[in-house]
Amino acid sequence: MVSFSERLLDRLRHTESVVALTGAGISASSGVPTFRGKDGLWNKFRPEELANLHAFLKNPELVWEWYSWRRELIRNVKPNLGHYALVDIESYFSEFTLVTQNVDNLHQVAGNKRIIELHGNIMRNKCVDCNYQVASQELEAGIVAEEKKIPTCPQCGSLIRPDVVWFGEMLPEEAITRAQEAASAAEVFFSIGTSSTVEPAASLPYLAKGNGAYLVEINPDETPLSSVTNERFAAGADEVLPALAIEIEKMRSRYR
Ligand code: OAD
Ligand code: ZN
Repeated sequence: MVSFSERLLDRLRHTESVVALTGAGISASSGVPTFRGKDGLWNKFRPEELANLHAFLKNPELVWEWYSWRRELIRNVKPNLGHYALVDIESYFSEFTLVTQNVDNLHQVAGNKRIIELHGNIMRNKCVDCNYQVASQELEAGIVAEEKKIPTCPQCGSLIRPDVVWFGEMLPEEAITRAQEAASAAEVFFSIGTSSTVEPAASLPYLAKGNGAYLVEINPDETPLSSVTNERFAAGADEVLPALAIEIEKMRSRYR
């Protein structure tokens, strides 16, 4: 049984402005591996070989092989109760913003509407030179250079890469600006399933708290953020979020 403090419920009763920041942990129970920790991807693979532009230009086949594997894995999984609870929670607040570091597209599949993707989306692709956007279906339809087994740009001929943020790259400017605005305005800020170690996303909860937000963490393990949160749930997002959605539904309908 998950129970929520009166302080948290009271805030949620009286505000419209709520932000949820999600990380790989929310998709863990769908079967998508996280990055850090025992079974994390960065425990088995080297990010410097797979997730930076230099590595891609040097060995695009290897990087594409890795992303095609992850894409296939993601295609075969479904959103879990944690994702769906966030869809319900969004519907109770007129100013709810979901900020995600995930590239797995599961929030979109679940049905959230206002989503800010900080690290891109693995189902999209773009040209390394001219930024031409290619959907994955288009790639599969055959814009693949047969001899090299890697896709090239129909517009300029350069390499096509996954539209995700790699190490050493800037986040999409509009996304991080909107996320910072939402965090500053939030009355309640949820940090969900993230190790809170990758900047600039890791700074968003501090920005929110500095501007008066009530800070809540949902994560079975402690993170660097844990000690500054107002409330912490040491359990899975798929357990806590459905209970929270029910609680909010009860009280928001009572007060309307
Ligand atoms: P991490 O793998 O760093 O952290 C995942 C967190 O989820 C950990 O703190 C786990 O304790 C927690 N967790 C595991 N199962 C959970 C569950 N069922 N419910 C809730 N939490 C759970 O993933 P991120 O913080 O998302 O960047 O990593 C941030 C970025 O680092 C990623 O977006 C990726 C990576 O390099 C890029 O690809 C640019
Ligand atoms: Zn191009």
